[in-house]
Amino acid sequence: MTGHASTPRPLTSRRAGALQGRVRVPGDKSISHRAFLFGGLASGRTRVTGLLEGEDVLATGRAMRQMGARIEREGEAWVIDGVGNGALLEPDGVLDFGNAGTGSRLTMGLVGPYDFTTTFVGDASLSRRPMGRVLDPLREMGVQVLARSRDRLPLSIRGPRVAAPIEYRVPMASAQVKSAVLLAGLNTPGTTTVIEPVMTRDHTEKMLEGFGASVSVETDGAGVRTIRLTGQSELKGVADFVVPGDPSSAAFLVVAALLVPGSDVVIENALMNPTRTGLVETLREMGASIEILNPRLSGGEDVADLHVRHSALKGVTVPPERAPSMIDEYPVLAVAAAFAEGETRMQGLEELRVKESDRLAAVAAGLLANGVTHEEGEDWLTVTGRPDGRGLGGGRVETHLDHRIAMSFLVMGLASEKPVGIDDAAMIATSFPEFEGLVTGLGGLLEEQAA
Ligand code: S3P
Repeated sequence: MTGHASTPRPLTSRRAGALQGRVRVPGDKSISHRAFLFGGLASGRTRVTGLLEGEDVLATGRAMRQMGARIEREGEAWVIDGVGNGALLEPDGVLDFGNAGTGSRLTMGLVGPYDFTTTFVGDASLSRRPMGRVLDPLREMGVQVLARSRDRLPLSIRGPRVAAPIEYRVPMASAQVKSAVLLAGLNTPGTTTVIEPVMTRDHTEKMLEGFGASVSVETDGAGVRTIRLTGQSELKGVADFVVPGDPSSAAFLVVAALLVPGSDVVIENALMNPTRTGLVETLREMGASIEILNPRLSGGEDVADLHVRHSALKGVTVPPERAPSMIDEYPVLAVAAAFAEGETRMQGLEELRVKESDRLAAVAAGLLANGVTHEEGEDWLTVTGRPDGRGLGGGRVETHLDHRIAMSFLVMGLASEKPVGIDDAAMIATSFPEFEGLVTGLGGLLEEQAA
């Protein structure tokens, strides 16, 4: 339906010299989606700099335009004139989210309570992903859902005349579900309450507060968070919103620098919000040399530069409770583990099964194709590494339309003895269009051909 029905673009990475230099990672994907959503909803003007111009985020911008927001790029900034809370227009056609789970699920929450019909479509990957996790709480608020295949795209939703506020305990660790319910609360009278037993990325709560929403967060002794949002209040544009760099994109460059012998790289402007730093913590436990330089505040968030040097890694056990703070980083952690001495055990991975691909299966298949000893369980993965990458590589990896599978295995090929091929690099543009340019700029070798 969109994007990458086009011809796949196979790509191969191979071992070359050390990676060296300074790079700046593009804007955070989660925050960029929310900048378009909240800027497009708030009254008045929002000016955003540092926005990620990946396909996923641009799809969210297009959707907000279709519902009445004015969004223009002016030089380095994106200027958004929002419609005002409660004033979205019925979209002029279907909303096509391509590959974007976050954009589609958050927008379902946002428009759920509106008394008009909105139709969501996406690519083959998005059309396989479960939407019930967002639609179930919306149904409790009075939203009707019409889908040919149960709770999968393409589907249409229609809100009631007046939505009912709910108290919702999020049944899985998902920032998308938490966010969808809170966004639905924006156009619902009264107080919408979300209970989050396990903390996930908190960008929605923080940014809504910045846009003037009435939102409060209470955390009890066991770490359970109760988030309350008062609906139908005014949201106001933010004059100067700065998007920090994406730690989930930085992750690929961090691991590449750790694995390629002799490397010395500085990765600038990485978001250091504690709900996103699980990978850095884990890699440091594995013996990685990652120095956190120049910690500072940018757009209300902690950011820093990461100085990464090639390091001998050793296997560790990653505790399941760390999963929410590194959920998108397990594929590249598995690649790092393939080069570590001993065994790395990753647990609590059930959510990986419902990402852009079944990431646990895709990672295991990629490891198998490249000679890495591993074991896959229902919600866990164990990888036994070979320091220096001896004997590793030589396989061709199926990416299943998943950008993070593509980038993870390209990183593997930069350090393994034999090259690593992926069947399609096109999806990388959904989250990190600059990836190939940055890798080759640091000295990595990528070739446009199958392995
Ligand atoms: C995101 C939440 C996470 C993450 C995704 C972005 C967000 O998904 O994997 O890349 O911006 O809220 P889940 O909520 O499904 O864990």
